[in-house]
Amino acid sequence: MKRRNFIKNASLTGVGLAVGSSLVGYAETPSDKSFKNSLKSTNTLPLVIATWHVENATAKAMEILQNGGTALDAVEQGCMVEEADVNNQSVGKGGLPDREGNVTLDACIMNKDGDCGSVVYLQNITHAVSIARKVMEDTPHVMLAGKGAEQYAYELGYKKENLLTESSKKAWLEWKKESKYKPIINIENHDTIGMLAIDKNGDISGACTTSGLAYKMAGRVGDSPIIGSGLFIDNEIGGCVATGLGEEVVKTVGSFLVVELMRQGKSPQEACEEAISRIVTKPNSDYKNFQVGYIAVNKQGETGSYSIHQWFSMTKFQDGVNERIQSEYFLKE
Ligand code: GLY
Repeated sequence: MKRRNFIKNASLTGVGLAVGSSLVGYAETPSDKSFKNSLKSTNTLPLVIATWHVENATAKAMEILQNGGTALDAVEQGCMVEEADVNNQSVGKGGLPDREGNVTLDACIMNKDGDCGSVVYLQNITHAVSIARKVMEDTPHVMLAGKGAEQYAYELGYKKENLLTESSKKAWLEWKKESKYKPIINIENHDTIGMLAIDKNGDISGACTTSGLAYKMAGRVGDSPIIGSGLFIDNEIGGCVATGLGEEVVKTVGSFLVVELMRQGKSPQEACEEAISRIVTKPNSDYKNFQVGYIAVNKQGETGSYSIHQWFSMTKFQDGVNERIQSEYFLKE
C-alpha cells in the first residue's frame, strides 16, 4: 500500500504533535494475522510491548530481560534508546522545542510495587526516564518539575546538554516565520514512547518519555509524566501506556482507566477500546482532529492496542519475535 496523507490538522489552539522523522513511513499493509496474534493468550515470558515502531528500543529491553534483568530495568533502558536517538524529534535529545525554542521533556516510570516517579518540564538532560526512576527510588517524592528536576539531575552527576539539534532548530525557525498555532497532528507515527514489560518472574513495570507537543506553550505539560494518565501499572492486573494528544488522555485518566477495566474482567484489547470510546463519545469531542492510542498488557501476558485513527502501531517482542503490530482503530473513513 502506498503511503498516503495521514496528516490531519489539530484543532488544539497553538500546538502540534511532534513527529519522529526517523520513523516515518510504512512499507506494508496492516496484518490481520499479526494483530490477532497480538491478542492471543500466552504465558511466554519475558515480554515487552511499546507504542509505535521502536524495534531498537524493544530489542534493548528484551536483552535486559533475557540477561535476568527486571522489567523496571528493561523499560528504563528501552526508553533510553529513543531518548538518545537524535533523529527522533518527539523524545529526548533532538525533540522539537516549545514556542520559545526550549526542548522540555516529560517522563515517568512505575514499578511492580506501585511505586512511581516522574519529571516534568525537564531541560538540558537527555535521559528524563532515568531521572524519573531516581525520583522514585531515591527521593521522598513522586514528581519533580523544571529547575528542581534539572538541579537534581546535576546532583546525580548528569552533565548539561543542548537538546536542540540543528535539525529541530531549523524546523522551529521555519515554524516561527508564521508562528501559526495550527500545526499538524501526525496520526501515523510516533509522539511518545511508552513501554511495558513483564520479566521472567511475571512482574510488570512501565515507563514513558516524550518532548511533548511541538511548539507548545512554554510550561505546557502533557499526559506522559502524569501517573494514571500516561502510564499505570498494577502488578496484580496489568499495565497501560498512552500516546497522542495528552490533554485528551488526562481528561479521561486513560491509563488508570484501562487497568481498572482489566480488573473488572475486560481483556487488554477490550479495555483499550473502551478507553478510546470514553474520549470519542464525550459531548463535543473533536476526536476527528486528534489522535490518542493505548497499549496494554495483563498479568497473563495478553496484549491489546487501540487508537482513534488508523496507523497507530505497537511493537511487541516475545518468543524471539520483535515485530510491529498495526493497531485496530475507531475512525473508519
Ligand atoms: N502524549 C504526549 C503529550 O501529549 O505530551
